[in-house]
Amino acid sequence: MPTIAITGSASGIGAATAEELRRSGSGIIGVDLRDAEVIADLSTPQGREQAVEGVLSRCDGALDGFVACAGLGPQVDDPGLIAGVNYFGTVALLDGLFPALRKGKDPAAVVVSSVASTHVTWDENPLAPLVQSGDEPEVDAVDAAVAAAGEYRGQYAYAASKNALTVAVRRRVPEWGAAGVRVNTVAPGSVETPLLRAGEADPRYGQAIREFVAPIPRHGRPEEVASLIAYLMSPRAGFVHGAQFVIDGGVDALLRPGRF
Ligand code: NAI
Repeated sequence: MPTIAITGSASGIGAATAEELRRSGSGIIGVDLRDAEVIADLSTPQGREQAVEGVLSRCDGALDGFVACAGLGPQVDDPGLIAGVNYFGTVALLDGLFPALRKGKDPAAVVVSSVASTHVTWDENPLAPLVQSGDEPEVDAVDAAVAAAGEYRGQYAYAASKNALTVAVRRRVPEWGAAGVRVNTVAPGSVETPLLRAGEADPRYGQAIREFVAPIPRHGRPEEVASLIAYLMSPRAGFVHGAQFVIDGGVDALLRPGRF
């Protein structure tokens, strides 16, 4: 039975992915703030260490898969926390679990980024200079980097954290490929989860989220993202490596038909 670790397994896309992979016969090690096999806070260095140690102790050092779903949405009014969970928390687990993935069978990882990763470019990403060293910057530095966005700094920090995350995954592609570990990202648009509902309830973002109509005129369902992730995790996707899969009801093609 393959053993797969999933962060953010208690809710939304992570919970749907855990359910789908369990159904198809995998053993799941969930990592979350609550309701999970490993309880850990990915916003802190100590919590990330606990998460890696908790997973490694449950898989005897050999892991067949890793899915990174844990994340915070743009409505969270703390850019440092958004960057801390979405970028630093995810990258710490990717790197911390890589040695165990190398020992797994047909190992693969999927990182949940976002279509927001395309809303800034790496060249203009305000977090790019702060993440280059690999060390987490002071919260003040993250706040200052996104301050120009004013009350929309959460959205700016969110897009920047997801752009940096997709870049971080792509940069690992040569080393991970040589080690036989596939890694890809998925980039969802609006998906019906507690995170999206919190955005809809936010006075800054709510109206835009509620009124925007995608070419497929509804929000995605967590199970739809989970089935894409399950495919990418399976040996059927054996030659798929280093790619980002948009799953957004056609929004990216609508807004940027000439850029792909
Ligand atoms: P959700 O809020 O339902 O689930 C997120 C999970 O992450 C929760 O279980 C939460 O407890 C966990 N989490 C948050 N902070 C954590 C921390 N410090 N340590 C450990 N776990 C933590 O959200 P959803 O929508 O399922 O989000 C999953 C991923 O999908 C996130 O990375 C999000 O950015 C991404 N995404 C979601 C979209 C949407 O419309 N729902 C759109 C694009 C991307």
